[in-house]
Order: sequence, then C-alpha cells, then structure tokens
Amino acid sequence: MYAQMVKSEATTEDPEKLAAFQARIDAGEKIEPKEWMPEGYRKTLIRQIGQHAHSEIVGQLPEGNWITRAPTLERKAILLAKVQDEAGHGLYLYCAAETLGVSRDELTEALLSGKMKYSSIFNYPTLNWADIGAVGWLVDGAAIMNQVPLQRTSFGPYSRAMIRICKEESFHQRQGYDIMMKMAQGSPEQKAMAQDALNRFWYPSLMMFGPSDKDSVHSAQSMAWKIKINTNDELRQKFVDQTVPQAEYLGLTIPDPELSWNEEKGGYDFSEPDWSEFFEVIKGNGPCNAERMEARQKAWDEGAWFREGLMAHAAKRAARKIAAE
Ligand code: 3HC
Repeated sequence: MYAQMVKSEATTEDPEKLAAFQARIDAGEKIEPKEWMPEGYRKTLIRQIGQHAHSEIVGQLPEGNWITRAPTLERKAILLAKVQDEAGHGLYLYCAAETLGVSRDELTEALLSGKMKYSSIFNYPTLNWADIGAVGWLVDGAAIMNQVPLQRTSFGPYSRAMIRICKEESFHQRQGYDIMMKMAQGSPEQKAMAQDALNRFWYPSLMMFGPSDKDSVHSAQSMAWKIKINTNDELRQKFVDQTVPQAEYLGLTIPDPELSWNEEKGGYDFSEPDWSEFFEVIKGNGPCNAERMEARQKAWDEGAWFREGLMAHAAKRAARKIAAE
C-alpha cells in the first residue's frame, strides 16, 4: 500500500486545479487533509513526515542506551523525560502522516523493508556520557534549526505537530548544552571527553541537513510547495553560525581547521562533511544501521500480539455497535 501510494504517478491532474492549489500555497494558506492536493504533494509529505517520524522513534535508541547509566538520579529523570518526548514526537508525526491516507503500520513496514529512511545521525554510536551531551546540544540543535521553519510548512497537520515538537526540542538542546557545560568545566579528563564527543558528532550533525543544495533532489519542488522552507545549505550555515560561539563559550574547539569568520557573508566559512560517508550511511552502511534496524524489527515482532489483540478488540466493538443499530 505504501509502495502504491508513493509510486502511482499522477499524470492527468487538471492544470486549473494545479494552478489554484499553487495560488493557495503562494498566499500562505494551509492545506488540510480532506482538501484537493496534487499527488506529488501528498507523496512528498508522506515521505518527509514518515521519515521524520521514523527518525524520532529510532532516535530514542542511542540515548535510551544511557538511561540506566546516567551519572545522577536527576540526570536520569531528565534523560528519561527527553526520550519519552521523542516517542511522543514520533506519534504526532505518524498521526499527521495518517491524515494523508497511509497507516502507521504501512509506514513501519516500509521502514523495516528498507523502502523508507530515518535520519543518518542515528547510525552513529553513543560511546560515553559526554556523547549524550553532544547529542542534545548538536543533534537536537540541528533538529530545531530544521524544524522551527517547518512550523510554517503548508500542510496543516504537519505544521501544527511541529509547533509542539519545537517547544520540547528547545528543552532537549538546553539539557545537552548543560551536560557539555558540566563536562567542560570538570576535570581535564571530563573536558577531554567533551571535546572528543564534539569531534565525533560535528560532521554527522552537519549531515543531518541533507546533501548540499546541488545534490538535493527534492528541495526545489518541496520549497515551491512550502513543504520545505529553506534549502539544506541555508540551514547548515545557520547552524554553524549559531553553534561556533556556543563551542567557544564551552572552551571547546570545532574540529575544522578551515573554520573562519567571513565578514563579507556575515557567517562562518567551514569544511563540508565527507559526503561519501553520508551516502554510505543512508544506503545502510553506517556504523549502527544494522543494530538500529534489528532493534526496530525486534520491537515490531514482539509487539505483534498486542497489535493483534487491539485490532480484535476494535473489530469486536465495531461488530457490537452495528448489531445494536
Ligand atoms: N538522513 C537520511 N536521509 C537523508 C538525510 C539525512 N540526514 N538528508 C537527506 N536525506 C535523503 C532524502 O530523504 C532523499 O532521499 P529519498 O529521495 O530516498 O527520500 C535524499 O537524501 C536527497 O535529499 P534531499 O535534500 O533531496 O531530501 P529532502 O528534500 O527530503 O531534505 C531533509 C532532507 C532536510 C532531512 C528534509 O527531509 C526534512 O527537512 N525533513 C524533516 C526533518 C527531519 O526529518 N528531521 C529528522 C531529524 S532527527 C529528529 O528530528 C529527532 C530529534 O529528536 C533530534
């Protein structure tokens, strides 16, 4: 069903309808689920929202790994809350995708069969507690940079989901920075751990924004439809400009010898990530791809009895209702 939704090309769309639709987008109107939309618009949204939902769910794994090993009760409670928030984000986003006519089960099956992706960043391991700081600071920081503009995206349910998500992501970023601050002001060993975490997460965080604009296949159409508001490179630049002073405040060094302030453009010049690594990771060859998919597959298999029970209960209730009418 997901494959069908994504493959069926709409070749016969009425040009008048298409023009009226584009005029609504250009006027800043929100598109709601029951309204007419081009097939390509619907498919692009299912792909992007579904991928985003999967990222929130898979994103629980590298951090969940540290809940039992958080250094204090307070840190444990905060991390637990953050990981639960990510589950909630996944659910808001699956609900938004469902309004486009695809079910949550179909989306999950598409992830497990490799037809859908999740964010590249979650294919990197969290090796120690400093990594949890770096993930909150950099990964959630990059996520917010991408998601704040998405609050203005043209599809109503997606834009409303993003408003709630962004509020929580800000807290996540702050908690990560707080961990980094403690580590950076701690013993020399702790500061070295913080620097090492920054070294390992810097380029993977830059990759989160997607390939450079010249290689981005979807940006032009997605921006015309206001599914995306900015290009990948615009957001990457904003992220670097925001993050460099935060690293300086921590007394840590961004692992990029080419990093320098460019007065003329009013932003930093920086080195591009290794794009061959990015394309390998999204093809499934990153350090943790197999482990992440195994964990999702296990959760899906072990939850089968519950899904079946729930559906049987729903079917029974529906049958009772029909009989009573
Ligand atoms: N990871 C995995 N795949 C990526 C990617 C990334 N970081 N960046 C791009 N890609 C994929 C695209 O999906 C596309 O492949 P496809 O055609 O098979 O779907 C291909 O690379 C080309 O990229 P494009 O630039 O053409 O793709 P998009 O226009 O979709 O732009 C995007 C990519 C900027 C990530 C966009 O999809 C987007 O803004 N998505 C919404 C935000 C999102 O998904 N965030 C996930 C971050 S993690 C998170 O939020 C969890 C939080 O707790 C930290």
